[in-house]
Amino acid sequence: MKKLADVFQLSNDVSLPCIGYGTWQTPDGEIASESVKLSIEAGYRHIDCAAVYANEASVGRGIKASGIPRNELFITSKVWNTERGYDKTIKAFEKTLSDLQLDYLDLYLIHWPANSKQFIDWDSINLETWRAMTDLYKAAKVRAIGVSNFQPKHLRSLLETDVKPMVNQVRFHPGMMQREIVSFCKENGLIVEAWSPLGQGKVLSDPVLQEIADRYGKSTAQVCIKWCLQHDICPLPKSVTPDRIKANADVFDFILTDDDMTKIDRMDRGEIVDSDNIDF
Ligand code: A2P
Repeated sequence: MKKLADVFQLSNDVSLPCIGYGTWQTPDGEIASESVKLSIEAGYRHIDCAAVYANEASVGRGIKASGIPRNELFITSKVWNTERGYDKTIKAFEKTLSDLQLDYLDLYLIHWPANSKQFIDWDSINLETWRAMTDLYKAAKVRAIGVSNFQPKHLRSLLETDVKPMVNQVRFHPGMMQREIVSFCKENGLIVEAWSPLGQGKVLSDPVLQEIADRYGKSTAQVCIKWCLQHDICPLPKSVTPDRIKANADVFDFILTDDDMTKIDRMDRGEIVDSDNIDF
């Protein structure tokens, strides 16, 4: 990737702009609208949203206020855990569209796989939700569909359906690489997106990253973002701070050497995010 306008090609040939602007933990209201508008002015064309972030109406106002034609933007949202199943997923999609003031989405994701501790029939629940996603896709209400936080065991049955997921959005940042699911996705033609590519800000003071960043004259946040891109993963950095929003997109004037990539890879603690271990 050489510039912000570069794209990842999804398996159905839809273009995914290489860095997305994250909106998780962005306060609803003026801050969400203003920061989304600013991100678009700064050149981002890909905005990552979700119903559960409880700010989609404000994000939608920011998108509208940017004045950028709809077809130049790539907008993602996700169906939340309480809305799984066919009918609820369709309704959740319509609510998200209306909140965002849009008439189609570019990408719609299942936010989390059903947890096997809560649901004995977790696999069929995921398949029912997926059936709704594929119908939305076939009806051209969304240009691509996928999942988030799925591990290989969750993806296997979806990969046997007539429309295979095109994206898996997982937690990925220095210290948390989830190598197994990332390889599984690459082998099966899914593009991986990274949520919290800056480790929610917590990895930014790491001395290994700082030493690397200093050598390139960049910030540790920029190093994290570039490291994702060089792993062919689409980072979704979140910031509501104007200077950071701009800086997080300014990552195309340097390339991390193989040696520096390996140094960052070595920070991995080998942990994974499995919905079975999360109390929702
Ligand atoms: P803020 O939104 O107040 O600017 P992640 O994308 O991994 O979830 O990380 C988001 C967190 O990292 C937020 O707390 C955000 O703060 C902070 N952040 C985003 N960009 C930068 C940056 N360039 N430098 C320092 N902190 C950043």
